[in-house]
Amino acid sequence: CGIVGYIGEQDATSILVEGLNKLEYRGYDSAGVALYDQGEINVVKKVGKLDELEDLVEEEQPQGQVGIGHTRWATHGKPSTPNSHPHQSNNQEFVVVHNGIIENYAEIKKELKEKGYNFASETDTEVIPNLIEEYYEDDLETTVRKIVDRLDGSYALAVMSKAEPDKLVAVRQDSPLIVGLGDGENFIGSDIPAILKHTDEVYILDDGEMAVITADAVELSTTDGEAVEKDIFEVDWDPGMAEKSGYDHFMLKEIHEQPETVRRCITGRLNEADVHLDDVSLTAEQLEQYNKVYVVACGTAYNAGLVGKYAIENLARVPVEVDVASEFRYRDPIVDENTLVVVVSQSGETADTLAAVREAQDKGARVIGICNVVGSSIPREADDVIYIHAGPEIAVASTKAYIGMITVFYMLAIYFARKKDLLADEESKQLIKDMKALPDQIAGIIDNSEEKIKDLAAEYAQNENAFFIGRSVDNAVVQEGALKLKEISYIHAESYPAGELKHGTLALVEEGVPVIALATQPSVKEKTLSNVKEVKARGGVVTGVVFGGEEELEDLDYRFEIPETSEVLTSILSVVPLQLLAYYVAVERGCDVDQPRNLAKSVTVE
Ligand code: G6P
Repeated sequence: CGIVGYIGEQDATSILVEGLNKLEYRGYDSAGVALYDQGEINVVKKVGKLDELEDLVEEEQPQGQVGIGHTRWATHGKPSTPNSHPHQSNNQEFVVVHNGIIENYAEIKKELKEKGYNFASETDTEVIPNLIEEYYEDDLETTVRKIVDRLDGSYALAVMSKAEPDKLVAVRQDSPLIVGLGDGENFIGSDIPAILKHTDEVYILDDGEMAVITADAVELSTTDGEAVEKDIFEVDWDPGMAEKSGYDHFMLKEIHEQPETVRRCITGRLNEADVHLDDVSLTAEQLEQYNKVYVVACGTAYNAGLVGKYAIENLARVPVEVDVASEFRYRDPIVDENTLVVVVSQSGETADTLAAVREAQDKGARVIGICNVVGSSIPREADDVIYIHAGPEIAVASTKAYIGMITVFYMLAIYFARKKDLLADEESKQLIKDMKALPDQIAGIIDNSEEKIKDLAAEYAQNENAFFIGRSVDNAVVQEGALKLKEISYIHAESYPAGELKHGTLALVEEGVPVIALATQPSVKEKTLSNVKEVKARGGVVTGVVFGGEEELEDLDYRFEIPETSEVLTSILSVVPLQLLAYYVAVERGCDVDQPRNLAKSVTVE
């Protein structure tokens, strides 16, 4: 979910709605705003996407110079208008927006019901304004301190009241929250894009911290009441980066930004034969001591980890295990001071991944974070961090962040291999030369394949199933290809190691079923192409992503070529046609590409 808050001299309604607009990637099941005006708090909220709320706001014209807003990704309670935020107390004095989950809400709800409180929603959040009403004497700040003491679980809260309309209170526990600093006005946001248009100076709240925000001042303290001094964090994103800039969708814009993403990611980090990672300081001895690398992440970041496994094992010769964070954290993983844990997260806020950082550190492991959002929770808690510098990624389906993550994995693998003396100068120089060529090669692939992919998409869009196959690193990339297709086009897509298809899934291949085969690895290409023959023999329609110039690929119905690079690096190129395919199939099917059903970009609940 996304939170925004404003207090100052301007019309708060438009600032809140605009902020929510920038946060829609956080969830879009419903949205709402609350504004204080002349002794009343007016709550306007509506199930559905933000345009629904915008229409309602247009109709009701709520006024005010102080307010809070929310866009929801449903956890407790279905998407509905009563379940949307802001939530009000029974006496309508207190209004709250909340991200996170209150685990003991049922117990609190029961207690409040016994005291005569009524509940209008099925949410966990609604207990919060009512608890505030119950505990309030004459000071909002003290009351919030008291009530958070009653809450188990995770929360980022923004609270406003009729009794003290000149202030907002914000508090954070395990769910991100920032305070934006203006001149005669201040802001609250769950994420930077919410306030980026107005200020680039923010306080990033830590767990257990709260802020009392007026138009002219921000006071920070712990929930225990101790004052907190904090540096102002300067955001280096340009507000234009969060706009569509003429593209139909953010996803398409972000695919097209990928040459620049790789360029930014490698800038200053590659010299002729070596990789420099400023924020990682591992000695050769330390690296020798690690007998295992664990990569932990969710979703697309997990898929990037699969490429990372291949790169690190291939170049740095250390076993790598890749685990999804929600499994890792509850598995009692075999991790100790001899394990290096690499966590990967675009947002730096995914709840399961953050918990995995803590789990790994508790067990004595060193944690390296590969992240995009500077100053987010995972980079702040990890021992080392390598930023991918992709700029804001808005489309729910990740593309440029994935490319950035695998770029970092390649650099990390070369860095390890060099430190461990496993990569000769010549070999390293070639890899680095090839890495520097990647941005232009990605641009070339987009140029050469986009039109052709539109035609292919028109054909594939008619199917309800698709299969992706590949071997070696291609097998890692097809997992991402299948995920992209299913999350935005709702086609059932599965990926398999090419050699595994015949052990079960081939039963599903019949006349006309699309199969996408990656065969970029010279060492196993022939094997994959034999599997393509097995698919063709059953009537499958095969699209191949292959190295250019090969004659023996007549079995392929469609073919996309990627230019030559080191065998280990192909993933950065081969994923691009798969991203474009997913995009154009989704467009062809009339899907909401940037905001696929049921999903959210940043999932800060477990
Ligand atoms: C959500 C998003 C995915 C993303 C995953 C991990 O599920 O929809 O696109 O890959 O979270 O996000 P992170 O910010 O940790 O990379």
